Amino acid sequence: MVSSDREFDVVVFGATGFTGRLVARYLAQQGGARRWAVAGRNEAKLQALIAELASGGVAPSVVVADVGDAESLRAMAARTRVVCTTVGPYALYGEAVVKACVEEGADYCDLTGEMDWVAEMIEHYHEAARSAGVRIVHSCGFDSIPSDLGVLRLQQEAQRRWEAPAGLAKFYLWDARGGFSGGTVASAAETVERASRDATVRERLADPYALYPAGEAPGADRAPQDRARFDPAIGAWTGPFMMARVNEKVVRRSNALRGFEYGRDFRYGEVVRLGRGVGGAVGAWSMTLGLGGLVAGLAFKPTRALLRRFVLPAAGEGPSEKTMEEGRFCVKVYGWKDVGAMKAGEAPLVVRVEADKDPGYGATALMLSESAMLLADGEDAVGDAAVGGGVLTTAAALGGALIERLEGAGMVFEVE
Ligand SMILES: NC(=O)c1ccc[n+]([C@@H]2O[C@H](COP(=O)([O-])OP(=O)(O)OC[C@H]3O[C@@H](n4cnc5c(N)ncnc54)[C@H](OP(=O)(O)O)[C@@H]3O)[C@@H](O)[C@H]2O)c1
Repeated sequence: MVSSDREFDVVVFGATGFTGRLVARYLAQQGGARRWAVAGRNEAKLQALIAELASGGVAPSVVVADVGDAESLRAMAARTRVVCTTVGPYALYGEAVVKACVEEGADYCDLTGEMDWVAEMIEHYHEAARSAGVRIVHSCGFDSIPSDLGVLRLQQEAQRRWEAPAGLAKFYLWDARGGFSGGTVASAAETVERASRDATVRERLADPYALYPAGEAPGADRAPQDRARFDPAIGAWTGPFMMARVNEKVVRRSNALRGFEYGRDFRYGEVVRLGRGVGGAVGAWSMTLGLGGLVAGLAFKPTRALLRRFVLPAAGEGPSEKTMEEGRFCVKVYGWKDVGAMKAGEAPLVVRVEADKDPGYGATALMLSESAMLLADGEDAVGDAAVGGGVLTTAAALGGALIERLEGAGMVFEVE
């Protein structure tokens, strides 16, 4: 169990970065009486951040820690109940932080979308974290909370209505408006680069069950949809969703960690909804080609360098305040008893997940901050989920309690 007599409830590590700054701002305004700190490698930058936050709410303390200095990470972890880290790419900087948390008994949450790295963390730390009672919770942002908790909400409703789980669930990105930061681009580029030189990384990224617990037989899902398709269930064209390879794996791990509550034969997939008719088809095929082009562009060194220099944002940069303010997203998760029920045209259960902030930053800062605060409240605050320690997902570690918290913070998880 994580010690309750720590100096801080939450330390935000990476608070000087684009997303970390938004998390710090959120905690300053919504963190209530929590004791918290901003952490990073550059003290002057952290002090400047505090001056900026002072006008907005409860001022934090400062902790100096550097990924290259393991002792500083251990000292940081030993002072807090929860380390909330936005220091990425995680495959480059994340492991030392996870290790320090497991060793010092601090719960942990992050924003990673680097699933080969998460598979590695499960391999290296799941057992140690489980025996220490430490909760390592990855992907607490737009990747993968709407997917993971949207499916959990759907399954709760399926149990209520059908007294059985939804054997098939499908996520449609219904609508989204926002932008990208340099850190996200760096993490995506780092994943593509690692995959181009390491066969194990390629295998992990391609394996739909890469995050399954060791020894569990995989289910029947295959790789995510990779091209335009007309979907009769919603009467519209759909295209490949960039984050499907990430989120789908997370949802499958949640099912396994929750004792296969969704069924051992559970099937799951994610796509982007586009329009109807010719316009929808053109949109879906443009998305297919655009995504393929971006991945190819990032895979080759010369085009990657050009893209990063002239097209994509640099480290510390991200969407403007205006883009974030005007941002929003809406996801719909459809569920059927099984594949046969969908093919027979039976009416699905539908859960809508929505926020009136841009998905990658405004809404992500809210989701990560609320996850960190719930972790800081201890296992009793989680109730039904309480999987205990380990390398976990949000649905397994925080479950319905996090849905309630996010609803309280303005997000929507509604059965239609
Ligand atoms: N899943 C999602 O939904 C989602 C959404 C947003 C972001 N993300 C992920 O979050 C991560 C951060 O993105 P971002 O745009 O905020 O990145 P960023 O602006 O580049 O910030 C990176 C942070 O890491 C810190 N850092 C770098 N090296 C360090 C070291 N050796 N020791 C301590 N701190 C170090 C930087 O400190 P300095 O200020 O001192 O350089 C900075 O605070 C990325 O991996 C991104 O993919 C995920």
